[in-house]
Amino acid sequence: MTTRQRILVVDDERDVITGFRRVFAKDDVQIDAAHSGAEAIAAIKAHRPDLVMMDLRMPGLDGLQTLRKMQQLDARLLIILMTAYSTSANVIEAMKHGAYDYLVKPFSVEKLREVVKEALKVSTDRSATVSVVPRANDPDEVDAIVGKSEPMQRVYKMIGQMAGTNATVLITGESGTGKELIARAIFSHGDRSAKLFVAVNCAAIPEALLEGELFGHERGTSAAPGKFEQAAGGTLFLDEVGDMPPATQAKLLRVLQSGRLERSRGTEAVPIDVRIIAATSRPLEHMIQQGHFRADLYHRLNVLRVEMPSLRDRRDDIPLLVEFFMHRLNAERRGREVHVSTVVMDKLIAHDWPGNVRELENTLRNAALVAKGGTILPGDLRLKSESSDFLPRISATPAPASDRILAQLPEANTLDDPRFRDIEAQVAPLFDQLVGARARGNRFSAFDVMERALIVHARNRNGGNQLRAAAMLGITRSTLRKRIARYKLQVSRRGSKGGGTR
Ligand SMILES: Nc1ncnc2c1ncn2[C@@H]1O[C@H](COP(=O)(O)OP(=O)(O)OP(=O)(O)O)[C@@H](O)[C@H]1O
Ligand SMILES: [Mg+2]
Repeated sequence: MTTRQRILVVDDERDVITGFRRVFAKDDVQIDAAHSGAEAIAAIKAHRPDLVMMDLRMPGLDGLQTLRKMQQLDARLLIILMTAYSTSANVIEAMKHGAYDYLVKPFSVEKLREVVKEALKVSTDRSATVSVVPRANDPDEVDAIVGKSEPMQRVYKMIGQMAGTNATVLITGESGTGKELIARAIFSHGDRSAKLFVAVNCAAIPEALLEGELFGHERGTSAAPGKFEQAAGGTLFLDEVGDMPPATQAKLLRVLQSGRLERSRGTEAVPIDVRIIAATSRPLEHMIQQGHFRADLYHRLNVLRVEMPSLRDRRDDIPLLVEFFMHRLNAERRGREVHVSTVVMDKLIAHDWPGNVRELENTLRNAALVAKGGTILPGDLRLKSESSDFLPRISATPAPASDRILAQLPEANTLDDPRFRDIEAQVAPLFDQLVGARARGNRFSAFDVMERALIVHARNRNGGNQLRAAAMLGITRSTLRKRIARYKLQVSRRGSKGGGTR
């Protein structure tokens, strides 16, 4: 990374190129010059620059046409357009055609240095994309399980041992750890794989309908077989079994104990032949103590047990998973491939992943959507680390920036401090917007607008962690919660069921 970075300046005005050379004379960068679009293309073919700074208006091939050609040559080139005509149409076109940024002429030396410095850093990140490692699993295979870490090796062994039996299996683990995937693997490696795999999500079906769904019902002349009967000879997957209401738990227990099923009270009970695999992200043992889950049912289900490791307990697998998901994404994106830069990979490996593999997959999917120039950069990532409400867990690695700010706060019990006057001055340019944003006649004050903005900022700074955000703002968590509700700010929660994150 210590090789000299090269900037290709494309401008028909020689003064501009001389200017660039002067500005960057003392820096460790090389300025190459091209005086037309055609020259620029030739220069790129001869040597790939780290950054292209190009005038929009040039005789012959203009900036946009040249930009397009450059993109065809190398979609990952970083190109900044320079223009004296900053109409939005120009700018939109430039960005649409894949320019990284644009500079409006005339620009100051400081502005130029700032933009170039930032672009060169991005360029370094971009060129350091992760090399493709040989795949352990075929990503085109629907139920591929990715992971070579020790905890996953143990899971594979268990799948192998359990697949050959008919015993009931309970799969536990945090949300998004792959419980359903494992259930399907146990099924497909077993001798019932020619029969059906029927899944019921106990958390997604309203309480009043769940019993009928599972056990069927008989009303008058019409009979509706439930999932138990549909799965006859096969496997029934009881997903989110911890969310099953007590009455259904009781009925399930009866069915499992007797091995027989009666559709409704008084009808003849028929023998059932299904293998049960149950899964939950709830702490069942704890729920039993609290009286929310039947101990006897738990023992019926917990014959064989698979505990899925959380993603943060098998970080070795993160690069493999990233590669697997990127391969899948790229297959969908047909030709517009995206890659992950090494800085991003480091961040992904370091992240705590409260939502586990599912969160990783969603994060990559979203990042690929906003990534420019074929590479996911740190700015494209939205990593949240909200601790869930029923399983409070504060991230072990605190967000350093906010902690530093908190630690540096001086002791003060008055608002009459020079630093506050500074803030007064900085609010001045915002004032009109603040008042304008309030909108005529609505019930929110300018204070609310400001407060909302502060809260949004504090949450972003803290990766969505409410405790930290509240501490930073100097309010209690419950005050923060009230404000979040008041301003209808979206609450990110771990382990919420049936949400739109799937
Ligand atoms: N080891 C893995 N390899 C590849 N993909 C995985 C792996 N683990 C999980 N996934 C993927 O992550 C997503 C979540 O997995 P799955 O639905 O099995 O998790 P879960 O534990 O049932 O989560 P929840 O408790 O939220 O229902 C799925 O798209 C699944 O394919
Ligand atoms: Mg699941």
